[in-house]
Amino acid sequence: MPNFADRTRRAVLSLIAGAGAAALTPFRSAAQVATPRQTEGPYYPTERMRFADQDNDLVKVARKVAEAGGEIFYLKGRVFDRSGKPAPGARVEIWQVDNKGRYLHTGDYGGAARDPHFQGFGFAIADDEGRYWFRTIKPVVYPGRTPHIHVKAFHGDQELTTQFYIDGHPLNERDGLWRRLSKAERDAVAMRFKSGAEGEEAVVDIRL
Ligand SMILES: [Fe+2]
Repeated sequence: MPNFADRTRRAVLSLIAGAGAAALTPFRSAAQVATPRQTEGPYYPTERMRFADQDNDLVKVARKVAEAGGEIFYLKGRVFDRSGKPAPGARVEIWQVDNKGRYLHTGDYGGAARDPHFQGFGFAIADDEGRYWFRTIKPVVYPGRTPHIHVKAFHGDQELTTQFYIDGHPLNERDGLWRRLSKAERDAVAMRFKSGAEGEEAVVDIRL
């Protein structure tokens, strides 16, 4: 029969363990809303339209020496499932226009020639802690839209399609899709550029 001191010690230890677990568990505050769902748009490239190279470096297409034009940055973050837990193995896809405003899509023709060095589409698989990252370019203005990056995330039977926006971009206020988001939802899909270990980066978590 454990005495009182033992029981107290055990209670304290389990409290400490509990505190440790709480620190590791992603904390979902009111500000951390689920990532808002947004339309896929007409330019999600089919498998046939994509490069053989579909990795998470959109600035470099395999076997090509030159890199894409544009302002390079790292888009990174963590994927969380619907219960708020990290989602290791989640697949995150992004697609966006190149520096000339062209999509990697046969339906987007006319205007400037596409940048052959920009991959246009890529995917990342989240690591053990749910982290994903891409090397890509800052999105540019597309006719009728504020700059944005299209995003899809898949984890088990959970799936999400959304768009990320440049925080504070003057055209956001005039963009119909951005305007329909609440303040918290805008925060959830805002890319805030800052200098990171590898260069400029923006951290955007995805909450399925
Ligand atoms: Fe788009």
